[in-house]
Amino acid sequence: PVSAEFVAGLPKAELHVHIEGTLEPELKFELAERNGLELPFADVDELRASYQFHDLPSFLGVYYDGMRVLLTERDFRDLVYAYLRRAADQNVRHTEIFFDPQAHTSRGVPFPTVVRGLRQGVVDAQRDLGVHAELILCFLRDFSAEYAMATLMESLPYKDWIVGVGLDSDEKGNPPEKFAAVFARARAEGYLLTMHCDIDQENTTEHLRQVLEVIGVDRIDHGLNVLEDDALVEEVLRRGIGLTACPISNGVVTASMKAPEIRALLDRGVPVSVNSDDPAYFGGYVSENLVALAGELDLDEADLVALQRNAFTISWLAAGRRDAFL
Ligand code: HPA
Ligand code: ZN
Repeated sequence: PVSAEFVAGLPKAELHVHIEGTLEPELKFELAERNGLELPFADVDELRASYQFHDLPSFLGVYYDGMRVLLTERDFRDLVYAYLRRAADQNVRHTEIFFDPQAHTSRGVPFPTVVRGLRQGVVDAQRDLGVHAELILCFLRDFSAEYAMATLMESLPYKDWIVGVGLDSDEKGNPPEKFAAVFARARAEGYLLTMHCDIDQENTTEHLRQVLEVIGVDRIDHGLNVLEDDALVEEVLRRGIGLTACPISNGVVTASMKAPEIRALLDRGVPVSVNSDDPAYFGGYVSENLVALAGELDLDEADLVALQRNAFTISWLAAGRRDAFL
């Protein structure tokens, strides 16, 4: 087995983390107070105790509700800075952070407020903590394709601050092809492409086929179900597409860390990395995820180095910068 110290010291990249999912109860209370909002919980412990989910929709309800405290540019800046401080403490050197602008614009917070605040957090943390970060704009798949397209258009003045686009929220009834035109336009604008293709959703192999054949993604978030069809594994290998696994998140949402699937992917040479997803809600940042997975699979130090190599390899760092980590 491998020690927590070894995991802590390993240089890491994190590629699958939702910034709104890093909103810890302490900061939630602080922002509520700053913005003159009342939370229906007496204190941090009571709030944390309310975090009980058994599937994706029950999590998403709590997740979206929690965002109401995020209102100003400063709030978004502080959210990013708090995550990057924790990431830097875990020796994360590079991270690609999802944000959900429609979870904010849909409740009246302007897009520029969100993206300017997030960018300020990235810039401040890079200066103070030396951690490098990029932003990935995620569309909410349970909203319309038209709303996604309008959000894409709003993002264009900020293109230099956004490395790519993704797709998250409730997958049921919202297949990848619903967003084919949006992702085609995003590609034409120079964005890299990824999409959540969750395990244990309905029609996952069909969704994976669409993600590969219709959308032409550069990466897949989760995506462990490629194992259900050899043709999908072959295609992912042929194109060098990486998968971003989230063991603790999967454990909360599906009652299994999907460790055997991660093992099988590693054995077949599919580049899979380990990530935290929504650490403030699922109770583990990237190091805790690595320790949990290592325990489950009896990983050794070489395995953990290989997982971090995968993470840097499938990252969207420019080649020169990426190669410095390999
Ligand atoms: N799954 C899908 N959508 C999400 C998640 C998740 O874990 N977190 C934030 N949006
Ligand atoms: Zn996710």
